[in-house]
Parts: sequence; structure tokens; C-alpha cells
Amino acid sequence: MALVTTKEMFEKAFKGNYAIGAFNINNMEIIQGVLKGAANKNSAVILQCSKSALKYAGPKCLLKMVESISEEYGVDVALHLDHGPDLETIKLCVENGFTSVMFDGSHYDYEENVAKTKEVVEYAHAHGVVVEAELGKLAGVEDDVKVDAAHATYTDPDQAVDFVKRTGVDSLAIAIGTSHGAYKFKGEAKLDFDRLATITEKLEANGFKNFPIVLHGASSVDPAVIEMCNKYGGSIKGASGIPIDMLRKASSMAVCKINMDTDIRLAMTAGIRKTLAEKPDNFDPRSYLSVGRDMIEQLVEYKIENVLGSVDSMK
Ligand code: G3H
Ligand code: 13P
Ligand code: ZN
Repeated sequence: MALVTTKEMFEKAFKGNYAIGAFNINNMEIIQGVLKGAANKNSAVILQCSKSALKYAGPKCLLKMVESISEEYGVDVALHLDHGPDLETIKLCVENGFTSVMFDGSHYDYEENVAKTKEVVEYAHAHGVVVEAELGKLAGVEDDVKVDAAHATYTDPDQAVDFVKRTGVDSLAIAIGTSHGAYKFKGEAKLDFDRLATITEKLEANGFKNFPIVLHGASSVDPAVIEMCNKYGGSIKGASGIPIDMLRKASSMAVCKINMDTDIRLAMTAGIRKTLAEKPDNFDPRSYLSVGRDMIEQLVEYKIENVLGSVDSMK
């Protein structure tokens, strides 16, 4: 089963008011857990690797594992580079069979982001690979910053239209209040849905109908999983994520891709901590890693049902 790009996935997701889950991977057990969970729900899925994941496992190894495991489970999979920092890393992934890449130029000034993204798009499209880019900066962990200061890093709707027009990107990651990691909000969780709606309306008014929007930093950081980590020797304090209902609302709007890494890490860690604490004489990696893998499978099923709404998207 050949890997696919995200093009058709996003077209269907936009029309069907759901999103495709993009889960970060870096080893065999995570890939198996995610793909088994997706197969159980008959859902398409995106597997994504950061630059540090590429360094950890190597692009060839990741590709071969994704190809063979997706074939085993019969799942439609796009293999995606997450937060690609430069053209060199983009090329490495394209040469190694990735079907989608992200170029993250969000830390450059606007014109530089446009120029560098355009260069990536030209290269990737010439090789049949789709491109995600980012505009605006994701909020930090502080939620008590003044509204103006917070909005200064949120994606500007008019700039989003200009950016899509000038770069030719296939999807756009926007900043509306999510953030990376396990410590997202100190106060009440808030996402700027009006901004998301305005971006979509303006894109549509400028000829970009059904344009797929991407949400990074979208883990929910389930308190029960944190409790499980802490009960069995962990020490994770003050963690919080994006509430499930907010994510489901986003996925029913123009958000077609929802990124989750932290939740995968937490689920795997909780399972491994628990089994090792309960069986201190166990030193067989197959035994404890498979518990982590099962936790990921359950997590992905839950996400597909309750966050993404992508059940049966492979039909
Ligand atoms: O958004 C970034 C991801 O969480 C990747 O993190 O660089 O530690 O693999 P990583
Ligand atoms: P989380 O840290 O919320 O899981 O976000 C992951 C992400 O955006 C990867 O690109
Ligand atoms: Zn991200």
C-alpha cells in the first residue's frame, strides 16, 4: 500500500467537517500503536516526524517502518515532515519518500517567510509532495498575557490570504491560541474561533475555497494520564492541554489537520511506568513497550472518535 499525500484526505475532511489526526512518531511501537488505532476506526491518518525524530531514527528507517506497518494494517497514511527548518531537511525527506512536508518559517519576518516558503513549494511540488507552512507564532504557556500582546502573534487574516496567494502552499498552520508541550494554559483555555472563521472566509472570498487549516499544539493532556504517570513514579506538575470540545469545534470548521505529540508521549510513558512499577522484576522491553503501544492505540481511537471525527474516513 503506497503512502498518499494529504490532498484527498483534506478535501474529504473539509467537506465532511472533520479533521485528520497528525501524530508524531519516532519508533516502531508508536507507529504500530497509531496505525492500529486508526485501522480499528477505519480512519486515514498522518504520521509526522520532527527534525529530532529524523536524527533519532533516520529517515530511511522511519519510511520503511511506516510503509510496512501501514500495509499490514491497510491504513491510508501520509508521511509528513513536522516543522521543517530549511530546504536541506525538506530535500532529505522528499528524497526519502515523504509525501508531505512542513516548512516552518514562522520565526522569520514576513517577507522572508514568504520567500523561503515559496522556494520550498517550488521544489516539493516538482516532486509531487505537498507543503504545509506556518504563519503567526503559537502562543506560549502563559495565558494571562494582555489581549493585544497575545494577538500580536496570532495569525492575521489578511496576511494569511496574501501568504497563500504568494507561496502556493497546500495547507496553512495558524496561531489562534494553542501552544506546544504539556503546559498550555495557566488560566482558562481559550481559542480564537472568530479568527479561524475570518481566515476561512477571507481565503474563500479570494478564490481559496475549502482551504485546509492546520492546528499545532493540540494535545489535550488528559489529567487521568498525568495522574497515572505521577502515581507510578513520575513528577509532572501543572500540565494542561486543549479541551476536547474546543478541538472538535475546530475540526468541524476549516481545521483539517490536528497535531498531537505530547499526548502520545504521555500515554506511552504512563503505560510503561505503570507496568514497570507493578512488575519490578520485568526486564523484557517487548513486554513493557507493548503496554505503551496499547496505550497509544487506545488514545488514537479516542481521538478519532471524540476530537477528529474521522471515523470511517477511509471508506
Ligand atoms: O512540535 C514539535 C513536536 O512536538 C516535536 O518535538 O522535536 O522533540 O520531536 P521533538
Ligand atoms: P502538542 O505538543 O500539543 O502535542 O503539539 C504537537 C505539535 O504541534 C507537533 O507539530
Ligand atoms: Zn507543531
